[in-house]
Amino acid sequence: MSVREEFDEWAASGRDRGMEERHWHTAKHALARMPIERGETVLDLGCGSGYAGRALRETKGAGRAYGLDGAPEMARNAADYTDDPDVGYVVGDFGSLPFADGSVDHVWSMEAFYYADDPHATLAEIARVLRPGGTFYCAVNYYEESVHTHEWQEFISVEMTRWDRTQYREAFRDAGLVVAEQDAIPDREIEIPDESAFPTEDWDSRADMVERYREHGTLLTVGVAR
Ligand SMILES: C[S@@+](CC[C@H](N)C(=O)[O-])C[C@H]1O[C@@H](n2cnc3c(N)ncnc32)[C@H](O)[C@@H]1O
Repeated sequence: MSVREEFDEWAASGRDRGMEERHWHTAKHALARMPIERGETVLDLGCGSGYAGRALRETKGAGRAYGLDGAPEMARNAADYTDDPDVGYVVGDFGSLPFADGSVDHVWSMEAFYYADDPHATLAEIARVLRPGGTFYCAVNYYEESVHTHEWQEFISVEMTRWDRTQYREAFRDAGLVVAEQDAIPDREIEIPDESAFPTEDWDSRADMVERYREHGTLLTVGVAR
């Protein structure tokens, strides 16, 4: 199945909003760290419901927010959730970003980067569209150290790249980005029941759930364009 087929189905069944709700627990902390100045242009790669661009307009005064997604239904839903004329959603692929060289101030991506056909080519594209000093905030829950996420690939038809922390940093550097920060942001909002509730349908033990959410949470890697 292609990105379009897989995620159009998610959008049609309302999973775009479901993802937003779950991802917001950690995304909001990472978004708050972005060094966006009033009027700057931001691009959200794999925008899903498009919440990040809208939040950056509201909280940071981003001048223009674009969300790009490979699934037209996602982009259509995202556009329906706002009437802000300075927020725009486009259908496109990470491998070929429809933006001019150096035309974007900051790029954001949450739980999407690892779906890229060729993540190295995507990083090169991000480095190309960013202006010097622009940043790429890359947030992922699915990564090597977060062992309880590994099984997700079984449930998704699109191939996912599972890098570890070092591989993210090395790939950013290979693409010409300076790694400014790397951090695991814990999800403190997901409710973890008492020991007596385990095993549950999804979790063998409480310790596993704590490890997944409170320890590994969301891996944030920040690159800065030269
Ligand atoms: C798991 S969702 C995350 C959505 C949103 N960022 C969030 O935090 O809720 C991943 C999104 O990335 C998009 N996507 C995956 N691979 C893509 C690609 N190669 N090009 C463009 N969009 C892609 C999917 O269509 C989907 O909407």
